[in-house]
Amino acid sequence: MTATSISMNHLDYDFNLLPEYLELLFAKLRIAVVFGGDCDRAGSVIYKTHNPRSWKSYKIVAREISQALVEIGFKHVFVIPDDMNLPEQLKQKNIHLVWLNTGGVQGYNPVCHTPALLEMLGMPYIGHNPLNSSTLDNKHAFKRELQSLGIQTAPFMTWHPSQGILLPNLHDRFALTFGEYQGPFVVKPVSGRASLHVYFVDKIEGLSQAVSEVHRATHNTALIEKYLPGQEFCVAVCGYVTYANGAFSKNTKPFAFSTIERVLESEEHIFTSMDKKAITTDRGRLMGPEEPELKQELIELARKIYWEFSLNSLVRIDVRSDADGSLFVLEANPKPDLKHPEENVTSLVALGLAEYGMSYNDLILSLLADRLDYLLTQHIEIIPHIVDLLC
Ligand SMILES: Nc1ncnc2c1ncn2[C@@H]1O[C@H](COP(=O)(O)OP(=O)(O)OP(=O)(O)O)[C@@H](O)[C@H]1O
Ligand SMILES: [Mg+2]
Repeated sequence: MTATSISMNHLDYDFNLLPEYLELLFAKLRIAVVFGGDCDRAGSVIYKTHNPRSWKSYKIVAREISQALVEIGFKHVFVIPDDMNLPEQLKQKNIHLVWLNTGGVQGYNPVCHTPALLEMLGMPYIGHNPLNSSTLDNKHAFKRELQSLGIQTAPFMTWHPSQGILLPNLHDRFALTFGEYQGPFVVKPVSGRASLHVYFVDKIEGLSQAVSEVHRATHNTALIEKYLPGQEFCVAVCGYVTYANGAFSKNTKPFAFSTIERVLESEEHIFTSMDKKAITTDRGRLMGPEEPELKQELIELARKIYWEFSLNSLVRIDVRSDADGSLFVLEANPKPDLKHPEENVTSLVALGLAEYGMSYNDLILSLLADRLDYLLTQHIEIIPHIVDLLC
């Protein structure tokens, strides 16, 4: 079958056609890479409110993704903020597909706003659906699901300002969660990034103040969990279609890669924010063949999470071990940093690509090709405007 014979019937799409279709799309597909709009910019929102998640535009990385798409061969790539002008911009520029590189503009659960808007507009995108975006960006919601799946995560409880001042010894929930455990703890925002407002709290007496600090900074729920004293790791995982060594493949398992130990200095309880210390190659140690079991355990864990949550796009999973070396999931980042690697500054996701014969551009192409393959296989009826480009 050739590209010209594609029809709206999903049976007509075959993975072997993907390279041919991509060739056609290079010249025709209009892609918008969307970064976080700034609510302080005039005309970006109707009323400025509050963002419980520390805001960042991610514009530089959006440009790097866009540059990679151009280098791959796409002729029409735009970089646009996700403020209230987004729908009009997408229409004006006749965009066919969006790449989400945004944490949102403002308001509660900001990571899910733009995918929700795109769902409403009928615009396909590379990124997580609204439910997964929100679940992943609310650490307590994600952890509850992990518990139901039998995936280890540190015991935790939440505390919201509306519940008053936290008095651990008086609360049943505290006793139920922690029993006789007296610390140390970690107190952090349920929705946060880059280790901002994350506190190491040695003793129970310090909890109330740390929770108040999180409330003051975020106006949102605080998470209190057991401190895991072991090593820290992360692992990236994305979909089933990959592009490596000049060829596409469709794998039976999600692609888990970049298994890295985050190198902590002595007395560095909390990994220092990447806003303060860039991710350099000495901050992330790529795991090699000397620890095959641990590496495989991380890979299996990442694949399991991808599968169980029916994820459709890249996440980076952060993991920490307890004193016995047992692995516990801290979080899965719905919009992991996709910085283009440079001399000594990189991203935790890009650090391990070479092991699989992949460049940064190969990863970008893999993410786009995986989404396209998924849409053509599962949802061809909702992307007629892309199918039209293939005829
Ligand atoms: N329960 C815990 N035990 C030990 N350390 C923890 C725990 N929770 C968080 N940390 C430390 O705090 C850091 C930030 O926590 P976490 O990954 O949950 O939040 P984040 O701010 O969203 O992180 P990121 O920088 O990955 O976006 C972790 O990298 C880890 O060093
Ligand atoms: Mg993290």
